[in-house]
Amino acid sequence: MVQSMVAEMQEYGGNAPATDQAAWDGISRAIAKEIETDEARYLIARTRTGQTIAVAGAKLIMLGGPFVPKQLLHLSAVFVNLPFRREGLATLLIKQLLDWGISVGATQCDLAVLSRSPAKHLYKILGFEPIEIKMVKSLLRQSDSRQTKPR
Ligand SMILES: CC(C)(COP(=O)(O)OP(=O)(O)OC[C@H]1O[C@@H](n2cnc3c(N)ncnc32)[C@H](O)[C@@H]1OP(=O)(O)O)[C@@H](O)C(=O)NCCC(=O)NCCS
Repeated sequence: MVQSMVAEMQEYGGNAPATDQAAWDGISRAIAKEIETDEARYLIARTRTGQTIAVAGAKLIMLGGPFVPKQLLHLSAVFVNLPFRREGLATLLIKQLLDWGISVGATQCDLAVLSRSPAKHLYKILGFEPIEIKMVKSLLRQSDSRQTKPR
């Protein structure tokens, strides 16, 4: 489902998903490891017949370094299978993750969303506001765009 999420995000200007299965196997292992700790939570919605139809994940991050320490909840993944959208599933899962974050001391939740993604509407309704903008500039020349492999 995370793979489907990344693939769909490409439609809104996101990076192309990895084509190497080993990369996705690595991500599955990393998520499995995260779930074993108390630092991350993945919620899955299933139909009565056991079909997985939605997932949402979040992890705890302690802000530090140059900043006053603060427990953050980072929303890392949200995906709902197409036929089950606009039924409130993402809202339900995210609210449960926020409740979990609050219960373990998080004082702020953050996430990254592509500026063209319709998911922005969902996040706005849930009370998220943009506070920073990631800016990108292509460094490819037109002649490079036909040959992107480093020499
Ligand atoms: C974004 C996504 C998770 C929303 O899931 P969902 O279960 O359909 O969301 P909800 O039903 O809880 O939506 C709640 C509200 O958010 C807003 N919303 C949700 N999806 C929207 C969309 N595509 N366009 C506009 N508003 C939307 C609506 O106001 C909606 O309420 P309404 O249906 O009564 O109008 C789902 O479309 C998805 O999986 N998209 C692909 C993956 C993705 O982009 N994930 C986010 C990565 S940052």
